[in-house]
Amino acid sequence: MSETIERKDYTNGPLCLSGRNVTRVFGMGEKANVAVDHVDFDFHEGEFVSIVGESGSGKTTLSKMLLGLLNVSEGEILFQGKPRDISTHKKRNEYWKGIQAIFQDPFSSYNTFHKIDSVLLDCIHMRGGRHLPYEKKVEMMTEACSFVNLKFAELTNKYPFELSGGQMQRLMIARIFLLRPKILLADEPTSMVDACSRSTILDMLLNLRDETGMTIIFITHDIGLAYYISDTVYIMEHGKFVEFGKADEVILNPQADYTKRLISDVPKIHEEWDLSTVDLNSAG
Ligand SMILES: Nc1ncnc2c1ncn2[C@@H]1O[C@H](COP(=O)(O)OP(=O)(O)OP(=O)(O)O)[C@@H](O)[C@H]1O
Ligand SMILES: [Mg+2]
Repeated sequence: MSETIERKDYTNGPLCLSGRNVTRVFGMGEKANVAVDHVDFDFHEGEFVSIVGESGSGKTTLSKMLLGLLNVSEGEILFQGKPRDISTHKKRNEYWKGIQAIFQDPFSSYNTFHKIDSVLLDCIHMRGGRHLPYEKKVEMMTEACSFVNLKFAELTNKYPFELSGGQMQRLMIARIFLLRPKILLADEPTSMVDACSRSTILDMLLNLRDETGMTIIFITHDIGLAYYISDTVYIMEHGKFVEFGKADEVILNPQADYTKRLISDVPKIHEEWDLSTVDLNSAG
């Protein structure tokens, strides 16, 4: 995790998704809970953004507002610099062509009764490829599967529930590869898989960004992962962004006490893991 990766600067490209005073309140009166509290943000084309915060800090609530699945109580979301309009069914569907999500639990994301090839075919059809010759569709599905190290030929005729958690996560990325949204929102996509699959999935997300120029919004508890993968981090505490900026700047020189605390919870953020110093007796 310590190597420095040379990357293009994606932090000052054209605006992709922005928010001004975005707020969400659940409940009313004395029971009102301000889950997201007047946040401002600017995400750029191709930028890899992480939103980092502890459980209950408002990350999923914010993602649902970004996706248009939850209304904002106050404030405004802008898509490509213009106020987002999802007031009609048609406009909402149009917006959803531009933004897609990967959720914590991949098993909930698929229709269990559809075989994998029909899951992937749907993606091609959603992008207007219904009339392509079948051989072309197979070629596209094969390419998408090999992008995530899956073999299309071995997946046809299987159902999603026949895959392992890690394969399922990769299938989700293959779907995104075919759908090519402008924005991918990934809410803890790695929480269900082991450390090895986790770094593979993160590398695949980075490749996806490099290959397609997609903006990726990565939601996590883990500031170490955010440091490894992102251009920009937003640190969220009690519904507010307490700090944001380039990942290196924020994590190597944190200003907010909350950020400092998150960093101190990660044993060695910029050193190699040294297993020889791990006290196995204290491992719980
Ligand atoms: N539908 C809802 N109705 C009422 N309160 C909600 C609802 N969804 C979320 N909340 C509250 O909003 C706050 C933020 O929750 P949210 O799920 O956004 O946190 P999170 O940062 O995603 O947490 P986690 O890391 O555990 O997923 C919490 O206090 C939660 O109880
Ligand atoms: Mg959440």
